[in-house]
Amino acid sequence: MWEHDLDGGLHLEPLRRAHAEEHLALVERDRAALSRYLGWAAADRMSTPADARDFLSRGEEREADDGLPWVGIWLDGLLVGGVLWFPVEHPVMATSVGYWLDSGAGGRGVMTRSLQPLLDTVLDRCGMRRVGLGAEVGNTASRRVAERLGFAFEGVKRSAWMVGDRVEDHAMYSLLPGDPRPWHG
Ligand SMILES: CC(C)(COP(=O)(O)OP(=O)(O)OC[C@H]1O[C@@H](n2cnc3c(N)ncnc32)[C@H](O)[C@@H]1OP(=O)(O)O)[C@@H](O)C(=O)NCCC(=O)NCCS
Repeated sequence: MWEHDLDGGLHLEPLRRAHAEEHLALVERDRAALSRYLGWAAADRMSTPADARDFLSRGEEREADDGLPWVGIWLDGLLVGGVLWFPVEHPVMATSVGYWLDSGAGGRGVMTRSLQPLLDTVLDRCGMRRVGLGAEVGNTASRRVAERLGFAFEGVKRSAWMVGDRVEDHAMYSLLPGDPRPWHG
């Protein structure tokens, strides 16, 4: 359900504490690009294997609560990215998705393709009625991912997102089980 081998050498499987060293290496390779949009990738929050284990433990805790594991993306055997789910809201059964990718693997559809089977699982097999997605208004790559996947744009939440001490407006999207999914044709 969560493990997939996709074209082009892509492999997906749950991202666990055991992957801490690989996760830290990914962040260290691409820290400037990742920490531009992701507070957790800043040097003061993710610099040691223990930091990486703490981060991935949060995923395991949420998985225990919600049944949705965080998922790693390997390209030709190298961990290049990940997908996380924010805590499920009850009773509506809504989650939101977050993701990151080493920019060395960027710009060729890796995140768009990786999210497709995961969204199918979350919407069709896990009972989620909504997957939300928030991206900084100026984060063109992330907004293009949302749009390519058929997420509906819901508007801009002003001053809704902080990275470090920078406060940004957030473009909000959602995908519901009945929405057309472009990859289904
Ligand atoms: C957002 C992110 C996951 C995109 O991954 P990706 O695999 O490069 O995305 P894809 O190739 O599937 O699609 C991205 C789209 O954005 C475009 N794109 C990629 N990098 C871009 C950039 N730096 N500026 C503008 N557009 C960009 C791609 O050309 C593609 O557009 P298209 O549909 O017109 O072809 C990756 O850039 C990333 O991890 N960024 C840093 C962390 C982050 O922003 N996470 C999301 C927080 S909301």
